[in-house]
Amino acid sequence: MPAKPWYTSINTPAYVADIAALRRNLDRIATLKDKTGCQVLLATKAFARVDLFPLMAEVLDGTTASGLYEARLGYETFGKQVHVYAPAFRDQDMLDILRYADHIYFNAPAQLNHFRHTIGADKHIGLRVNPGYGLSTVGGDLYNPCAPHSRFGTLADQLGDVDWDGVAIFHVHALCESLHDGSLGLIQHVSKAFAPYLKSVKTVNFGGGHLLNHPDYDLSALGDALNRFQDQHGVSVILEPGGGIVYNGGYLVATVLDIHHNGMPIAILDASASCHHPDVIEAGYRAPVIGAGQAGEHPYDYILAGNTCMTGDIFGTYSFPEPLKQGDALLFGDALHYTFVKSTVFNGTPLPDFGTLHANGVYEVVKRFDDKVFRGRL
Ligand SMILES: Cc1ncc(COP(=O)(O)O)c(C=O)c1O
Repeated sequence: MPAKPWYTSINTPAYVADIAALRRNLDRIATLKDKTGCQVLLATKAFARVDLFPLMAEVLDGTTASGLYEARLGYETFGKQVHVYAPAFRDQDMLDILRYADHIYFNAPAQLNHFRHTIGADKHIGLRVNPGYGLSTVGGDLYNPCAPHSRFGTLADQLGDVDWDGVAIFHVHALCESLHDGSLGLIQHVSKAFAPYLKSVKTVNFGGGHLLNHPDYDLSALGDALNRFQDQHGVSVILEPGGGIVYNGGYLVATVLDIHHNGMPIAILDASASCHHPDVIEAGYRAPVIGAGQAGEHPYDYILAGNTCMTGDIFGTYSFPEPLKQGDALLFGDALHYTFVKSTVFNGTPLPDFGTLHANGVYEVVKRFDDKVFRGRL
């Protein structure tokens, strides 16, 4: 008899990092860095497994944060550079932010002018620009940083108000889950539309949203474009992806608790779309299930549903080659980014374990949660 796969005998639900996959991803990023000299930061909003930071810090140059708490996390647990951006900073946070972050990005001239005199010469200041070139391949305008009336970044026609003295970094974050065509389009757009401003800065940060580790992402084309850009404008380049670093790097493992019937079979899982994979509901993301297909592709169709009170707590309809039964384990793929960082304990739903699938195939539980997490937030 063939050995049972590792995920059929573990405690579920569980978010599992696959070390071999993460190493492959990091190796690709190391190749890009070697080719271009660019710096690559981890956006901790997307993925923050502190136990894996030492592995990531072997290749990445630091972290980028969305405010004080993430900046502190990056400083204390990742080391290396800490960048921080927020649409607006609170006065009372800035002194603490400056303890942890070495790169501070402002959203608009008013924020820059309000804080610039509190920032010492040992820090690097950036300004976020809305390049007017935004693309999101998921969630429509929900995740398009340049959607109409977006609050993110200084618009081109507001740049005349900027005093660039002391501003070292021109920052654009305009993509979401983009392949190389999105990245290349953004680079070309910035090159053409903002060339005069690039003369004032040392570095351009092209933000996140570059899905660097997607099998269809042409990393070599990105490297060529970055090299041309750096040569043409005499600047260095930073990328700060989250999802693109850990893409396909792990799983959410769930167990079928029961099969309910209402018009069609509904598999009730111990993992919840609403609590454990919120982008399924917020952004209409379809979480891949290993071995399953679209509805109708295999003989047995099921709605995969969470165990909460929310009617819409549904992963979607999937088909399977064999009927599902109580106790079966399901493996959602590509489940590391924007999953556990956004999870909730609504309904007192237990949080999944954090697990690691080591490169030698051994599975390890790294962290287990109990109802203190739930009680502590009430
Ligand atoms: C400013 C900024 N940088 C980087 C990221 C990371 O994006 P992603 O995880 O899509 O690569 C985000 C995501 O929202 C962001 O807002």
